[in-house]
Amino acid sequence: MPDTAERRREQLVGVFRQARTCTRCELSGSRTQVVFGAGNADADLMLVGEAPGAEEDRQGLPFVGRSGALLTTMLEEEAGLARDQVFIANTLKCRPPDNRDPSTGEIESCRPWLLEQIRLIEPRVVATLGNFATKLLSGDQTGITKVRGKPRIRRLGERVVWLYPLFHPAAALRATGTA
Ligand code: URA
Repeated sequence: MPDTAERRREQLVGVFRQARTCTRCELSGSRTQVVFGAGNADADLMLVGEAPGAEEDRQGLPFVGRSGALLTTMLEEEAGLARDQVFIANTLKCRPPDNRDPSTGEIESCRPWLLEQIRLIEPRVVATLGNFATKLLSGDQTGITKVRGKPRIRRLGERVVWLYPLFHPAAALRATGTA
């Protein structure tokens, strides 16, 4: 009989298989592939970004472009964590054309995938990167500039977590003129 963590991992793979053929919104028509998420399926810390960009859409992995390089460095240098110790996902699993902002309808259509990921991974802390993930998971429309760095307890589906809003790494790249 597999232990609970192993069962949850298997279920997560099952959810990934379903998500791979998702047609809940029109991004299914323009994506190369679904970018489900990556990392440790048993992680205490889960990071939730905005949506895949061109490189993520090509590779099928989250945060593998320039924002991803900065995120990896921040994780290593600020938290002493390797990428494979955390789980990284996005608000949207498919790339919006030309990297436009996610629409409200797309976020709503994709939300069940993210809640399933949180239910199965059982993180203690969910760090939301930027406005879209923060507003979705906090259930409050206050902008990231006001709430960043202020953790709060939040029920997400069946799971109670510390929600920890942070600036999106792309904002740091823009602020330093390196975007
Ligand atoms: N890459 C991702 O996977 N997500 C983002 O939000 C930005 C870049």
